[in-house]
Amino acid sequence: MKITTVSAPGKLILFGEHVVVYGYPAIVAAINRRMAVTVTDSLDMTDHIDTGIVLDQRFVKESLILFKKKYNINSYITLKTSSQFSDRVGFGSSAAITVATIYALATHFKKPMTKDVLFDLSYQVVIAIQKKGSGADIAASIWGGIVYFQKNTPVQKLDSTINEIIVGYTGIKASTTKLIDKVSTSYAYDPKTFEKIFISISKIVKQAKKEIVRSDENKLGELMSENHTLLKKLKVSTVKLDCLVKYACEFGAYGGKLSGAGGGDCMTAIAPEHAKKTVKSALSKSGATVYILTIETEGVRIEL
Ligand code: PMV
Repeated sequence: MKITTVSAPGKLILFGEHVVVYGYPAIVAAINRRMAVTVTDSLDMTDHIDTGIVLDQRFVKESLILFKKKYNINSYITLKTSSQFSDRVGFGSSAAITVATIYALATHFKKPMTKDVLFDLSYQVVIAIQKKGSGADIAASIWGGIVYFQKNTPVQKLDSTINEIIVGYTGIKASTTKLIDKVSTSYAYDPKTFEKIFISISKIVKQAKKEIVRSDENKLGELMSENHTLLKKLKVSTVKLDCLVKYACEFGAYGGKLSGAGGGDCMTAIAPEHAKKTVKSALSKSGATVYILTIETEGVRIEL
């Protein structure tokens, strides 16, 4: 029996969350935690979906519906998912599972698909479910590595030797859509102030792009902390996230920031080699679940 397995990495937003929704750029890294989808032909006249620990089946189901409709597929499949990370930590599980599902179906049914088409289809699925979002997480899952992402602009992969990133998960699951709504409500109320903050963040993103290519971790840390201060002004940070960023810096990190929508989920920090252990233990002692993640250079791929 023909078996097709495709996997895609999760993501970590390094710079530019929220402003990316408004058309400004962001920098997103693919991480060494993947989601995989295995497709086989169904033995009866129905589709079977087994998402195991991926609690939210909507992304897989919507991807299947969209794919079958677009390519006029009348046969049935069995689809199983497996995951190297929980969908609670904010590592982009929805984007990764959507990308992996659509690409697995394209591979299984021999429909050649470019990365750009895969992006468009995945974005349609995410928007159908969440109604909002930039697609930055989808780009990281497809292209891998560190991507410079701006809506309606070709994705740029950044070359860098930056490899390890410290992540502290607060234990609090945040709702991305609620936080996007919160920023848009505040923006509507005070557009001048928010526009200024957006522009300041986008300047940081552009500077960070240069520092990533130079692989200057010290400068990147500083830029992360500056980005965090501005995210606080957007009112998406929390006391816990602020504390974790502060501790990371006090214990030797070059800098840090919340990563993603805020309101909980996780923060990230860059630290020199000699300080990594101390930063890690300071974050753990403050109640965070700590991950040392590496950048995943490969995006979506067929598993042999
Ligand atoms: O909360 P996360 O990890 O899904 O990140 C959301 C990032 C936003 O910029 C707030 C939204 C988006 O779609 O880019």
